[in-house]
Amino acid sequence: MVSTLTYRQLTIEDGPRVFDLVRTSGSLDVNSRYTYLLLGKYFASTSLVVESAEGPVGCVLGFRPPEYPDTLFVWQVAVHPRHRGHGLARKLIHLLLDSPGCSGATHLEATVTPDNDASDALFRGIARAYGADCQVEPCFARRLFSDGGHAPEHLYRIGPLSERRRRSS
Ligand SMILES: CC(C)(COP(=O)(O)OP(=O)(O)OC[C@H]1O[C@@H](n2cnc3c(N)ncnc32)[C@H](O)[C@@H]1OP(=O)(O)O)[C@@H](O)C(=O)NCCC(=O)NCCS
Repeated sequence: MVSTLTYRQLTIEDGPRVFDLVRTSGSLDVNSRYTYLLLGKYFASTSLVVESAEGPVGCVLGFRPPEYPDTLFVWQVAVHPRHRGHGLARKLIHLLLDSPGCSGATHLEATVTPDNDASDALFRGIARAYGADCQVEPCFARRLFSDGGHAPEHLYRIGPLSERRRRSS
């Protein structure tokens, strides 16, 4: 696919399009429209989008947990199905880790369902690029999702991250 892609910080104006993108992703929990506005307002420094001429085609939405300021928690990462497999998600996360909003972050965390091979490969690849460990442990059990229809979520903890150790982007 030949198209110019621009990577930039999330804004409030992106909220509606990011909501649509997450809805299109197929495997993510779709949160309220309000949530994506909130991220654009208060978590812009730890969230990026990649856009083509048609608008956002990928996003990484993260935050620094107040009690774990050394950690970037990647809450959702999504790439439009037409743009998958071209390194967009990997680049979004590398750019985010390089950005001022992640200054001082030594670890990256995310939760992933056991059946999500793409996500597993994405986060293990990030760990490899930094020469970092990737520890995986149970996090949110199936019973915690009240209807029981949601797969359990495993916590991926990657680190320590060191700019000097980063081998590729
Ligand atoms: C997960 C997702 C964001 C990956 O986006 P992407 O831009 O296609 O990923 P990339 O091209 O950057 O690939 C990153 C790595 O994952 C691997 N990968 C990508 N898709 C894969 C798949 N379907 N199966 C196995 N590995 C896959 C790539 O080979 C690459 O590995 P490498 O770093 O070792 O070279 C995308 O598939 C998506 O939006 N899925 C639906 C939403 C989702 O599940 N989000 C994650 C929830 S935590």
